[in-house]
Amino acid sequence: MKAAIVGCGRMGWLFDEDPLTKKPSTHAGAYTLYEKTDLVAACDINTTRLNKMCDKYDIPGRYTDYREMLDKEDIDILSICTHNHYQICMDATKKKGLKAIFCEKPLAYNLKEAEEMVHACKENNILLTVDHTRRWDSTFMKIRELVKEGTIGKIQTVKGFCTVGWMNGGTHLFDLLRYYLGDVDWVQGHIQPDPSTDPGGRAVLKFKNGVMCFVDSTWKDYVYVGADLIGEKGIIEGSGMIRSEQGIRVRKAVPSKGESGVYELEEQDIDSPEWQPPLIRALEDIIEGIEHNKQTLCSGEDGKAAVEIALAIHESHNGGNVPIHLPLRNKELIVKSRFTSFTRDGEPLEVKYAE
Ligand SMILES: NC(=O)c1ccc[n+]([C@@H]2O[C@H](COP(=O)([O-])OP(=O)(O)OC[C@H]3O[C@@H](n4cnc5c(N)ncnc54)[C@H](O)[C@@H]3O)[C@@H](O)[C@H]2O)c1
Repeated sequence: MKAAIVGCGRMGWLFDEDPLTKKPSTHAGAYTLYEKTDLVAACDINTTRLNKMCDKYDIPGRYTDYREMLDKEDIDILSICTHNHYQICMDATKKKGLKAIFCEKPLAYNLKEAEEMVHACKENNILLTVDHTRRWDSTFMKIRELVKEGTIGKIQTVKGFCTVGWMNGGTHLFDLLRYYLGDVDWVQGHIQPDPSTDPGGRAVLKFKNGVMCFVDSTWKDYVYVGADLIGEKGIIEGSGMIRSEQGIRVRKAVPSKGESGVYELEEQDIDSPEWQPPLIRALEDIIEGIEHNKQTLCSGEDGKAAVEIALAIHESHNGGNVPIHLPLRNKELIVKSRFTSFTRDGEPLEVKYAE
C-alpha cells in the first residue's frame, strides 16, 4: 500500500529522532519499517522539517501544499499528523482511490466537525482510524483481556488519570476507558483555572454498564495516562504506566493469613505481554480493515466518542457542574487541544530534537 503523511512534526517522524523512544514511535517510522507499506509522499508547510524527514526516509514526493499532494500522488493510506485535522480529512475524502485515513487524535475540536469527518469517510468508502495508540499496545490489550475474563470480578469503580488537558491527554484516557468498559451514559465535570485553551480538571463518568469512574487531568509535571480498576474480587492497577515494560499490577482476594473468615488482597503473577510496536499493529489492523471491509480497533466513531466526552465535561462545567447525558446536544462547542510541547503557562518548551 502506498502511504503519505501530512505534518512532519513529532508524531510524523521527530519522536523517532529521540534516542530514548522505542522505535518506531512515529507514522514515518512505522510505514518505513512495515513491509506492506511504502511511504511515497509527505507534506509540511515547514520546508526544513519536510526536507529532513524526506531525506531521512528517502521519500520521493515532497509537498508544502497537501491539496497538491492529493492531486498528484497515487495514495492508498493518508496519515494526518497536524494539530487540526478537519479540513485535511474533508479534502482527502474527495480523493479518488484513497482507501484509508489514519488520523491523529483528537479527531476534531468539536462534535459537528467530528461527525462530518466520520460521515464523509463512510460516504466515500474510506476507512477512518484514529490513533489512540493504546488500543494496539500489548499492555493495555492485556488489561482489557483481564477485565473481560472477569479476573477481578465485576468492575465497580475506576480511577482514571491523564495529563495535558481533556482534549489532549484526556481523549487518550476516555478512549482507553471506553476500550475497557464500553459507552458512557453521563458525565459531570469541573475545569481547573488554567491559561491554556485546553485546561484539565476532574470529572465523574457513569458508564452504561453501571461502572462509576473518577477522572483527573489536573496539571502534572509528568506524563500519566491510565486507569486503576476496582472489582468485586480484586484490583488491576494500570495507571501511571506509560510503557509496557513498567508492567501491570493485579491483586486478587484470597483468604486472609491474619484473620479468620475474611479475605484480603494478594499480588498475582500474570504473564507480561511481549511489547510489539503499537503503530505497526495499527497498520496491520488498517490493511486488514481495507482488505476485509471492517472497522479497525479505533474507528472514527471511537475517535468521535472520546472527543464527545471531553466536550461534555466542558459543557457540564459551563452549566454549573450539572450532569450531561450523552449524546451531547451542543455540537458547536469548540475546545482546541493543548499542544504537549507547551508549558503550563503557554510558553513553548525548548525543542529537544535536532532540526
Ligand atoms: N498518538 C499520540 O500518542 C500522540 C502523541 C503526540 C501528538 N499526537 C497528536 O499528533 C498531532 C501532531 O502533534 P505533534 O506534537 O506531532 O505536532 P508538531 O507541531 O510537532 O507537528 C505538526 C506539524 O504539522 C505541520 N502543519 C501544520 N499545518 C499544516 C498544513 N496545513 N499542511 C502541512 N503541514 C502542516 C506543522 O508545520 C508541524 O510540522 C496532534 O493532533 C497531536 O495531538 C498524538
